[in-house]
Amino acid sequence: MELRIEQLDDEGLGVSGRHRIPYTLPGEVVRPLRSFRRKRLIYVPEFKLVSPSPNRVAPKCPHYGVCGGCRLQHMNYSDQIRFKEEKLARILGFSVSVIPSPKIFGHRNRIDIVITPKGIGFRQFGSWWRVFDLNDCPVFGPRAGKAVAALREFISDYSLQPYDLKTHEGVLRYIVLREGKNTGEFMVNLVTAEGELPDPTPYFSAHSVYHSVNSTLSDVSYGDPVRFWGKEYITERLNDVQYLIHPNSFFQTNTYQAENLVRFVAEYVDGENILDLYSGVGTFSVYLAKRGFAVSGIEINPFSVDLARKNAELNGVSDRATFVVGKDSDVSDFRDYDTVILDPPRAGLHPKLAQRLVERGPDTIVYVSCNPRTYKRDLDVLSSAYRLEEIRGLDMFPHTPHVELVSLLRRY
Ligand SMILES: C[S@@+](CC[C@H](N)C(=O)[O-])C[C@H]1O[C@@H](n2cnc3c(N)ncnc32)[C@H](O)[C@@H]1O
Repeated sequence: MELRIEQLDDEGLGVSGRHRIPYTLPGEVVRPLRSFRRKRLIYVPEFKLVSPSPNRVAPKCPHYGVCGGCRLQHMNYSDQIRFKEEKLARILGFSVSVIPSPKIFGHRNRIDIVITPKGIGFRQFGSWWRVFDLNDCPVFGPRAGKAVAALREFISDYSLQPYDLKTHEGVLRYIVLREGKNTGEFMVNLVTAEGELPDPTPYFSAHSVYHSVNSTLSDVSYGDPVRFWGKEYITERLNDVQYLIHPNSFFQTNTYQAENLVRFVAEYVDGENILDLYSGVGTFSVYLAKRGFAVSGIEINPFSVDLARKNAELNGVSDRATFVVGKDSDVSDFRDYDTVILDPPRAGLHPKLAQRLVERGPDTIVYVSCNPRTYKRDLDVLSSAYRLEEIRGLDMFPHTPHVELVSLLRRY
């Protein structure tokens, strides 16, 4: 059987009838080698490329085609941007230009590598248990291959047991790498099941090495830190602002594009009193406070709030950037603020919150979104009181189908 790719879907998969084929381009013909069904679709993660597109480019990564991470490395970068613009136009119903990432390799400041008896690396496309052996990760940079080689040596020297995702036997579960791209600082977090770990520091050349324990059955890449060597935090810088990175804290994954994101947010905010509604580790709040704005952050995760306060302190703006642990639903009247920044999780705004903004919202809303579908749903509600004045797409994740939005809404 041969399949001809008609187009790419919003996930960047080639479409041929009910088949979905990763790593392909429109017009290409493939012969399936392995497939699986999910819901009503047939996915084809392995195939022979019978007729390649003239638009295909050589992927930089040696694991391209096996790794489930970078699905679009065979597409030249300007085509990736066009793909994202077309996707946004389909979802939003109007056109938005997407700003390319300043770097398309070495841009990721974090990778979560799975450790299993069969492989140490990332998952293959469409599978949670097939993990391939990683030697290099060009989107992270040279430290990835070195850290994995060091880990293999560590495992072999101490006969450590990798964790089996199906039987739940074994100790070593994840190695998470974080790198401050603008500071050069490097963090290694070894996540294990319950158990002791020999001293890993002779193996890893890092500013900070953590041992965290995840004693639950859930397959997550973090745990309770039980020990660290070197620095408790590493730092990253966005333009002139410094941020602390901890194994259990979130940080925008593409440092170089995050510098553009914070710049756009600063350009869009208006007035003096700003509410940063999903403030996380204070990325926007601290950046804005450094520019003279008074910002209140609200964030559900106490650990992030603690880190946001530390970030404010580190940048000397604790008086202008303050944070409380709270929920979006805790705010009943937004009119006390000149601008409200919204950067919700992928699920977007709760319908009641969107309605409350329509009824008692501020003059200006800066809505940052990593999910164009929920953004569109929320925009449709907010449109009864707000006009969309500016919107930009940002490519935070080159070689993937994801795209971030940053927008300015003004009350009528
Ligand atoms: C996309 S992140 C925003 C990150 C933040 N802008 C930053 O750069 O650090 C969404 C944040 O919303 C928080 N969150 C999730 N549900 C929430 C809720 N109901 N109320 C307040 N914060 C919430 C999450 O913990 C997360 O930090």
